[in-house]
Amino acid sequence: MTDIRRPDDMVRITTPELADAFIEEQVELIRNQVGDKKVLLALSGGVDSSVVAALLIKAIGQNLVCVHVNHGLLRKGEPEQVIEVFRNQMNANLIYVDAVDRFLDKLAGVTDPETKRMIIGGEFIDVFAEEARKLDGIGFLAQGTIWPDILESEAGIKAHHNAGGLPEDIASRFELVEPVRILFKDEVRMVGDQLGLPANMVYRQPFPGPGLGVRCPGAITRDRLEAVRESDAILREEFAKNGLAGKVWQYFTVVPDFKSTGVKDGKRTFDWPCIIRAINTTDVMEVTVEHLPADLIDHLVNRIISEVPGINRVLVDYTPKPPATVEYE
Ligand code: XMP
Repeated sequence: MTDIRRPDDMVRITTPELADAFIEEQVELIRNQVGDKKVLLALSGGVDSSVVAALLIKAIGQNLVCVHVNHGLLRKGEPEQVIEVFRNQMNANLIYVDAVDRFLDKLAGVTDPETKRMIIGGEFIDVFAEEARKLDGIGFLAQGTIWPDILESEAGIKAHHNAGGLPEDIASRFELVEPVRILFKDEVRMVGDQLGLPANMVYRQPFPGPGLGVRCPGAITRDRLEAVRESDAILREEFAKNGLAGKVWQYFTVVPDFKSTGVKDGKRTFDWPCIIRAINTTDVMEVTVEHLPADLIDHLVNRIISEVPGINRVLVDYTPKPPATVEYE
């Protein structure tokens, strides 16, 4: 199954013309591989799965069945954008699964970071497998595996899940389709551009699989999760306005599970702090901090304390990695 033809005989995709040629070649290969069978894809809205979706829509149209699981830990506007881009603009066959309550109920009271990760990952597979069992005539599973995933898997750094870690009864029914497996991230982005995906989808910053769950440290509550989501949306909006969105590698907010005293309209408040983190890296092993302009910090503090319920204090995390990690959990 593993046909590793990178890097020897592949030209690096550095121009729109090369991306177009890759798209034409893959459309042909996909059609030859799947024939008139249906293909299933877990579409998170991240760069890799979105580019795979757009490629498959071009190749086989309605025979691609996309499943978008909203686990409640996505950023503000993400599920809506997946529906708008894929269902409304690209006319994709998209199943939207609202699993917010299911995930948040399972996570209620869970404080251990690795247990939270296991619940989020395990529940995702359960939800996706349930959707897959409801569908008839699916012969293939598409995945957004990219070349660094293959390299990491070969080097034993990261397990590259075959069939996304699905249970055997489902996985054994499907053959894999991995049309971007020979590409590096920048090439995937160029292909996404040429396929007409929106720039904020193609050039988005890395986002962890457990989503906002790891930015709401300790036991996730709906109100604190909303504070993370709203403050993150403000940060992303201001970074975009100030030309930092494409420049800073990763930026987000964290709302820790403790409260401090404040004062608002002459009355005592007892609310959470919101932490801003903006970092740069090339390999995520070592990370430096982006030093934000003072007037932008002032503006962010003002917006977050006045627009996000439950926040009365804003902090900026200036810690590199090591000793800190990027995420808080
Ligand atoms: P850390 O916190 O380990 O993060 O310094 C390094 C990079 O990895 C991302 N990250 C994750 N990505 N699942 C993911 O898919 C995870 O559980 C996870 N934890 C961290 C993090 O956002 C950063 O880009």
